Amino acid sequence: MIFDLLIKNGQVVLPTGIKMVDIAVKDEKIVLIQEKIEGEAKEVVDATGKIVVPGAIDVHTHLAMPFGGTISADDYFTGTRAALCGGTTSIIDYPCQRKGNSIKETLKPRFEMCEKDACCDYSFHVAITNFNDGKILEEMDEACENGITSYKGYMVYKKEGMMVDDGMIYQLLLRCKEVGAMLNLHAENPDIIDVRTEQFLREGKTGPWYHYLSRPEFVAAEADKRAVHWATHLNVPVYIVHMSDKEGLDAIIEAKKKGFDIKVETCPHYLEFTNEVFKRENGINFVCSPPMKGQDSLEALWKALNEGYIDTIATDHCPFQLHEKLWGKNDFTKIPNGCAGIENMYPYMLSKANEGKTTYETVVRVCSYNPAKIFGCKDKGSIEVGKDADIVLFDPKKDYTISVKNMHSNYDHTIWEGFKCHGYVTSTYLRGTLVFKDGEFLGKRGFGKFIKRERYQGK
Ligand code: URP
Ligand code: ZN
Repeated sequence: MIFDLLIKNGQVVLPTGIKMVDIAVKDEKIVLIQEKIEGEAKEVVDATGKIVVPGAIDVHTHLAMPFGGTISADDYFTGTRAALCGGTTSIIDYPCQRKGNSIKETLKPRFEMCEKDACCDYSFHVAITNFNDGKILEEMDEACENGITSYKGYMVYKKEGMMVDDGMIYQLLLRCKEVGAMLNLHAENPDIIDVRTEQFLREGKTGPWYHYLSRPEFVAAEADKRAVHWATHLNVPVYIVHMSDKEGLDAIIEAKKKGFDIKVETCPHYLEFTNEVFKRENGINFVCSPPMKGQDSLEALWKALNEGYIDTIATDHCPFQLHEKLWGKNDFTKIPNGCAGIENMYPYMLSKANEGKTTYETVVRVCSYNPAKIFGCKDKGSIEVGKDADIVLFDPKKDYTISVKNMHSNYDHTIWEGFKCHGYVTSTYLRGTLVFKDGEFLGKRGFGKFIKRERYQGK
């Protein structure tokens, strides 16, 4: 057989550990992994000195999302282009149901946009905001059959009409378990946020620090614990998105230790930044929900990651342009919530492994293997025979300073400006095709394929 691609001499992060092996690819798939492969190939890559990892799967993005009075700055073209340039080969995006719309109606325009624009592989979780007289709950089984096997409930954004109340969460948890879907929850307490926000604005406290203070640790922790309460008492799986606070995390770890199936995601910005960023001159740019918390929370997240309690890392990529962020310069409630990260997640995490703060195996587990397993992407998530050849080369010797000038998104600033990565992604292959090399995007608009996901199989 003549292989399409042969990657030789790299240190490959396999499910069984790091080994120096060669990888052969044919027809988009990994077909052979062994110490030395001597066969012929159309393209041979010498990966000497490189760490070879599976493409990351960013399971939390908001591309072209109407939010905060505008639309997030990256669409499915620029967002997925940026993803590939940071070694992320698949995304799961969050279309949000508008009142009265079915799941199909919510997804139709998103499928159309992705078919035309997506450069990397993609799927969707649907954020449910109302049940349409119960029809939504009925539709979920058919949607799962079509590969949409996860849903989201926002426990916040009441005024925006996006919130699900406890009664809806209760029904969603039970229905998701019944159809083999995962329910993802954004956990913060909306009523306390509203009361604190109104109080701050009345007192003339309008800066980004008060965005943090309107929803600090205990406000998120209450909702985290409520999610844990329902999931444990109903004995159903649940996935908590963008965990940022120690108290909530501790409650989840306790439930996990008792054997409950609670999954937890965090994001690079909660691992790198604390609430101190909101005191910076450009603090407005860091405004996202939930906000970054204190040092205790940051340390607890790293500890949990290294002890195996964090299941996934994702970005919550939802960037807005500077002029949009500035709408809130005199009132933090007018700042569109969200930051960028889609191009930075994998380089950041791999760079942290290179520095010894975590391990390459941990990074691959939380950025690729677990996201694939939890969200039913059966062809993704590891370098194994039979999987899609989504392969990333990371050069541990290449130092790289992040700057918006060198990125491949569509926004004009980044919270990661000036961050020094010790090591960087040098090549990305999507299903065996080279789509990024040495700073240059080589992929194609529309090359991304829909990932028809399997139902949740349990832990
Ligand atoms: O600040 C954020 N995270 N914006 C996007 C919407 C959400 O809350 O996930
Ligand atoms: Zn989000």
